[in-house]
Amino acid sequence: MTSGKIETQSTAAEVQRTGRNSLTVTDNRTGKTYELPITDDTIRALDLRHIKVNSEDFGMMSYDPAFNNTALCRSKITFIDGDAGILRYRGYPIEELAERSTYLETAYLILRGELPTKQQLAEWTYNVTHHTFVHESIKKFLDGFHYDAHPMGMLISAVAALSTFYPEARHIFDAESRQKQTWRLIGKMPTLAAFAYRHSLGMPYAYPDNELSYPGNFLNMLFKTTELKYKPNAALEHALDVLFILHADHEQNCSANAMRCVGSSQTDPYSSCAAATAALYGPLHGGANEEVLRMLLDIGSIANVPAYIKRVKAGEKKLMGFGHRIYKNYDPRARIIKRVSSEVFEVTGRNPLLDIALEVERIALEDEYFVTRKLYPNVDFYTGLIYQSMGFPVTMFPVLFAIPRTSGWIAQWEEMLLDAEQKIARPRQIYTGYEKRPYVPMEKRS
Ligand code: CMC
Repeated sequence: MTSGKIETQSTAAEVQRTGRNSLTVTDNRTGKTYELPITDDTIRALDLRHIKVNSEDFGMMSYDPAFNNTALCRSKITFIDGDAGILRYRGYPIEELAERSTYLETAYLILRGELPTKQQLAEWTYNVTHHTFVHESIKKFLDGFHYDAHPMGMLISAVAALSTFYPEARHIFDAESRQKQTWRLIGKMPTLAAFAYRHSLGMPYAYPDNELSYPGNFLNMLFKTTELKYKPNAALEHALDVLFILHADHEQNCSANAMRCVGSSQTDPYSSCAAATAALYGPLHGGANEEVLRMLLDIGSIANVPAYIKRVKAGEKKLMGFGHRIYKNYDPRARIIKRVSSEVFEVTGRNPLLDIALEVERIALEDEYFVTRKLYPNVDFYTGLIYQSMGFPVTMFPVLFAIPRTSGWIAQWEEMLLDAEQKIARPRQIYTGYEKRPYVPMEKRS
């Protein structure tokens, strides 16, 4: 029972008698009773508007800050059961995809709804691969950033700038145009990300190598120096591919919501994607992996873990990489990432921060504070350790999240565009400010 509300229970006989898939609500202000249809265990918020005190009344609304209990759309893309710790893309369990698929194949699945045939995959790979180059002016644009600019800020700006190179992208209801922008966005994100990284090092940009795999080419653009042909380490290339699969989509998270919201005003996909990337940047979303690493460095040693946990419980800090709006169980991605981390550490050597992370997890999973709140490690808890061992600076961590999430954003955006029920996103508010009052001249203000 929620606070201040009174639940009355129908008798089993009543339920049997009515047998209706509906919700009956009595407005105690008027004594009127309303029957609201239930579809998929959900009532339509607009049906509440029939509930009025009188004919002038605007009608009842629902108040749901941060969309805690509001379904924004019907979606066929990603399924999450947060209590059971289940994640599926288009029906396929994340564990199977991580084991058997590649990022590009998974991106195709997320966008098109089915796993590709051999020929479809070859064409898709060809098209994405042949859209990895960016206009030379992008390099000049990136050169304008300060040497220590955060690569995520550079990425957000560069993605937005792409819309100026492809003005036809605004024809969002043209399926062919959408297809082209999809290849471009998925193809160019790693290039923009790698260029941002090279800029921070003051190193010349390394161009894409179309003979390499998607993650292999990304490693090439990041780390190539004087060699004629860059050969990515197979284990690291595979680990990155798995991490990309795990980050490809996650239904209505903050950045997917930004993509849908901005896209709902019929903005071009590059500008919408820049908004989604900006949403991802925050420390409560894709910026959390960066914060986890900073936190582990701050803790400094296993001996300091209990004191740190104490401060978290006292409300002084958050345990970064823990907790999730949807998962009230172990994040299934975190489980896979833990396995991937050992594969990476075999190549790079064990990350010394791993022992601190394991101790944090051990203590937190036994502690009543975390147990009662169902706070478990999320996807970001171990990724930072892997990225750091692979040679990435912390500022690149959210960028590594944005690259694969692009396929999810585009799928969410396209689903929104083609959904006849969707319109421009425009929530309501409960106004709590002043009533009408007269303008106060300057000399009368205190
Ligand atoms: N450390 C300590 N306490 C926490 C944490 C945490 N990481 N997360 C939640 N809590 C507490 C919170 O203080 C609250 O306690 P109380 O009931 O006493 O007020 C309770 O748990 C419920 O938390 P909430 O803030 O209502 O949960 P939310 O659904 O609004 O927030 C979250 C979800 C992910 C923003 C939050 O758990 C958090 O800030 N975690 C740390 C940041 C993080 O790791 N983010 C990455 C999310 S996964 C990657 C992604 O998809 O972006």
